[in-house]
Amino acid sequence: MTASSFTPRVFSGIQPSGGLTLGNYLGALKRFVDMQEANTHECVFCVVDLHAITVWQDPEALTRQTREIAAAFIAAGIDPSRSILFNQSQAPEHAQLGWLFSCVARMGWMRRMTQWKDKAGKNSEEASLGLFAYPALMAADILVHHATHVPVGEDQKQHLELTSDIAAKFNHDYGVDFFPITEPVIGGPAARVMSLRDGTKKMSKSDPSDMSRINLSDDADAIAQKFRKARTDPEPLPDSYENLKDRPEARNLVDILAALQGRTPEDVMGEVAGQGWGQFKPHLAEVAVETMGPITGEMNRLLADPEEIDRILGEGAQRASEIAAPILDRTFDIMGIVRRA
Ligand code: TYM
Repeated sequence: MTASSFTPRVFSGIQPSGGLTLGNYLGALKRFVDMQEANTHECVFCVVDLHAITVWQDPEALTRQTREIAAAFIAAGIDPSRSILFNQSQAPEHAQLGWLFSCVARMGWMRRMTQWKDKAGKNSEEASLGLFAYPALMAADILVHHATHVPVGEDQKQHLELTSDIAAKFNHDYGVDFFPITEPVIGGPAARVMSLRDGTKKMSKSDPSDMSRINLSDDADAIAQKFRKARTDPEPLPDSYENLKDRPEARNLVDILAALQGRTPEDVMGEVAGQGWGQFKPHLAEVAVETMGPITGEMNRLLADPEEIDRILGEGAQRASEIAAPILDRTFDIMGIVRRA
């Protein structure tokens, strides 16, 4: 079955495992808002708390971070009356389908996941079973909503390929055409925002150096300082984007500016060609502060009323379950699992 036979539906999620970075904002959140505004798809967005606990989370921090991510979604422009916004654990169908998919996915598929290899490292015997099974739950998040489109950053591509493998194996094993083969929506200048200290590593909330990333919670001074100190080569900006090919740190900063302004990097280069870093970096910082300042401000305003955030998440979970429950029921039927009459 192709994605076109299903209701056009977007699903995506963010882990409440720490604060958000500029990478999360440009690679994910901002694009979620664009998809909501395009009005071509039903949109379902999720704070994936069950994924976060695959590594240790302090309980109080998890509660706070779950509300923070929910507030960030809303502050960035997700409207909970038009899109569904909830935290994963409140719609139990996700975990239920996650278990069923743990029985469909193969050990070998999971072992090949680069995120598993990176996160478990040399100490994989000590990693949680949940961390290993992580991609089966992610496939369940997407497929329990029969989502057709999944906007994510480049780092999630392999997990989406695995989601398609699980859907295809389920459909094949049970001789049905039930789960859609979903389409990853990856692209644009911010598909992989890189570290400000090393242009070959992605910007990440888990990088030990805070100077490597812009946090959504950074104030104007911190943003300016981090861009000023961002690693670059000594050359000024060239006359075309093509000529940034072998200059990863320089290209990253141009990509960030383009993504912040919703322009193509080629277009941005038309304006900044020939500039030195002393001119370009303060300009970039100014644009970043202008874009992110209001979002951070709105986030803090929303966080002053945690009960309202919890109410929004609860209502969103109810709506998510309305979509997911019949899909899960049908999955149980297909598998021959006897249900309560
Ligand atoms: P997470 O929480 O690590 O990141 C959330 C989103 O931000 C994107 N992202 C980036 N994009 C560009 N440049 C970067 N440096 C960067 N860093 C992070 C991620 O690609 C992601 O889109 N497994 C997912 C959460 C998840 C999910 C899902 C996503 C669980 N279930 C179902 C989509 C559909 C994750 O860990 O994202």
